[in-house]
Amino acid sequence: MDIQALLAKMTLQEKVGQLVQLNASFFRKNNEAAITGPAAKLNITPADVANAGSTLTFIGAAAMRSIQENATEKNPHHIPLLFMQDVIHGYRTIYPIPLGLGCSFDPDMVYELARMTAKESAVSGVHVTFSPMADMVRDARWGRVMESTGEDKEVNCRMVDAFVRGYQGDDLKGKYDIAACVKHFAAYGAPEGGRDYNAVEMSERGLRQTYLPAYKAAVDAGARMVMASFNTIGGVPSTGNKELLTDILRGEWGFDGLVISDYDAYREMIVHGAYENEKEAAFAAFDAGCDIEMVSAHFYVYVQQLLDEGRVTMEQIDEAVLRVLKLKDDLGLFENPYRSANEEEEARLHLCAEHRDMVRRAAEQSSVLLKNDGVLPFAKSAKKIAVVGPFADEHGILGEWVCAGRDEDSVTVLQGIRALLPDADIVCEKGCSWDIFETDLSGIDAAVAAAKDADAVVLCLGEHQQYSGEGNSRADLGLPAAQIALARAVLATNPNTAIVLFNGRPLVLTELADTAPAILEMWQPGTEGGSAAANLLFGEANPSGKLTMSFPWCVGQVPIAYDRQNTGRPVPNAKAFPVTRYTSRYIDAPVDPLFPFGHGLSYTTYEYGPMAISADTLTADGAITVSVDVTNTGDRAGRETVQLYIRDHVADVVRPIKELKDFAKIALDPGETKTVTFTVKEDMLRFWKRDMSFGSEVGTFDVMVGPDSERLQKLRFTLV
Ligand code: BGC
Repeated sequence: MDIQALLAKMTLQEKVGQLVQLNASFFRKNNEAAITGPAAKLNITPADVANAGSTLTFIGAAAMRSIQENATEKNPHHIPLLFMQDVIHGYRTIYPIPLGLGCSFDPDMVYELARMTAKESAVSGVHVTFSPMADMVRDARWGRVMESTGEDKEVNCRMVDAFVRGYQGDDLKGKYDIAACVKHFAAYGAPEGGRDYNAVEMSERGLRQTYLPAYKAAVDAGARMVMASFNTIGGVPSTGNKELLTDILRGEWGFDGLVISDYDAYREMIVHGAYENEKEAAFAAFDAGCDIEMVSAHFYVYVQQLLDEGRVTMEQIDEAVLRVLKLKDDLGLFENPYRSANEEEEARLHLCAEHRDMVRRAAEQSSVLLKNDGVLPFAKSAKKIAVVGPFADEHGILGEWVCAGRDEDSVTVLQGIRALLPDADIVCEKGCSWDIFETDLSGIDAAVAAAKDADAVVLCLGEHQQYSGEGNSRADLGLPAAQIALARAVLATNPNTAIVLFNGRPLVLTELADTAPAILEMWQPGTEGGSAAANLLFGEANPSGKLTMSFPWCVGQVPIAYDRQNTGRPVPNAKAFPVTRYTSRYIDAPVDPLFPFGHGLSYTTYEYGPMAISADTLTADGAITVSVDVTNTGDRAGRETVQLYIRDHVADVVRPIKELKDFAKIALDPGETKTVTFTVKEDMLRFWKRDMSFGSEVGTFDVMVGPDSERLQKLRFTLV
């Protein structure tokens, strides 16, 4: 399509309509009477709706086709709508929440999952997914930590890169490719107090060196869209932040795709107190670099005035509109507005055996064995098995943002164990509700009775999916009192108990880490969660996930991350308290988290040989290698994530005590040894210097290798 020629034929309102995104309900057939009210709320008429360029919140190929038919018929130039959707961890076949995927340390798997999801989404009519979320997260009180791959920028960069390449395939050329919209630009994951939508206060250095890299990784991977975040940074709402949306994004990073606001964020800038009225908000957002406004039409309504006042130019408007038309063209919508939407393919692909198998493996790879005194894996010969707790037979284990996913599609733990061990005597008792406000303990006796003489007790606890995700910040990170009471009673009855957790954020597990023989963190594992849990509990699969977000010892520690600074008064022992006064301590808690970044156990054991370094000096254009032999010393095959950290001892701004710089996930058979070799180069040592440029400084560095962020061997090298 000659989009320039098309643009030349469009009126101002037709053009700017392309920058408006409306809910799908506006475009439903025979809905004309029903849109008058909602349109009036946006200060537009039903006739204006026909100019709109994109939509969100629709489900399925049939709905898409009907909406598209109606919209293209009404649009004066028959321009098709772009269909966008939050496809975050699967479309219909759901895999673990992104925080779980982070723990897999397996970007190749994430790439494959994103490919699969693009396919399921494309056949349902999705053109753009509002994913990946590249927000760095360090405060488990924030409900949206579930949408991030964690607290580390290296992991996040690799994961968002995998997501974007997986969704977009060969730059949208394939029938099943969809465009990626990275979000929420920027630093949405650092709200004060962990409260959603709250203000962010951050130095430019912190932003540049810690928070921005993952968004940049998504842009570098070719993400076609960027979503501005709701929050303010230093008092400036991102939606109106020209430095972010234009200077950094387009100027420094060379992004030439589309920028969209978050939901109703133009209006929210008025509520923030940043702009007086809709016209000023519209100008600020457009001037800052927003192209599309999500579910509002402020710019559409005020554009003529802004043009008349000379505050915006036709050239700027044309540029933004062309960006929308280009994406439509690249997706092939002018040739076929329905693109890949196809009900038969939906029926064939959604929840198909191949996809179910993929998401089960993803759930196995994403779960983290936090503790094991040896009770796991349970013997498959167990005769009587008690599956107890509020998540024992709970289908709500998909996690927030599941698009077309349905709870009833999911396999519960009980169902998973029944399928794996059809001959076992399996009893199930809920014990208590998962509702955090429910105090009824009357079911505990029955759960205890079920657990009493069981050979294996699977105690399924956690935080229901409805308590994490957007708008679900929590001030308490513990398990609810009823679940704690249940756990105490069951653990006292039968020591052959493993706790299986379903939750969307790190929880405070300090008591259970002490009293439970084993804890398996499943996160919200998706459609095949129960099958994966059964395989892991009974040794059909070997846990290999490692935490990408620290589990705090108590809620007062958050925000917390492993890459802290030393301070001028480090505590002598970060694991103990009370420690010496006048150190950077807590009186009543240790400095270290309960379970650190990178932690995760296996049913086998790995032995690390002495690490070696190829040279003790590194030049600016050279490379040194760091290697270590890792041996599987147990009797099961497994996968181990070997981690490489670096510390810069002295620099003109203080550097963290360690930073993950590389990792490798290797498969090892029993008795097998593999040498893992990492390459260290100067660019891995760069930081945001005092003069506000990225660079490294000569000097000495520790390089550390190990199975998690604490058990590390270390050697030294000098950058010359
Ligand atoms: C969320 C975004 C999401 C959008 C559209 C907003 O409330 O913050 O992450 O993409 O809604 O559903």
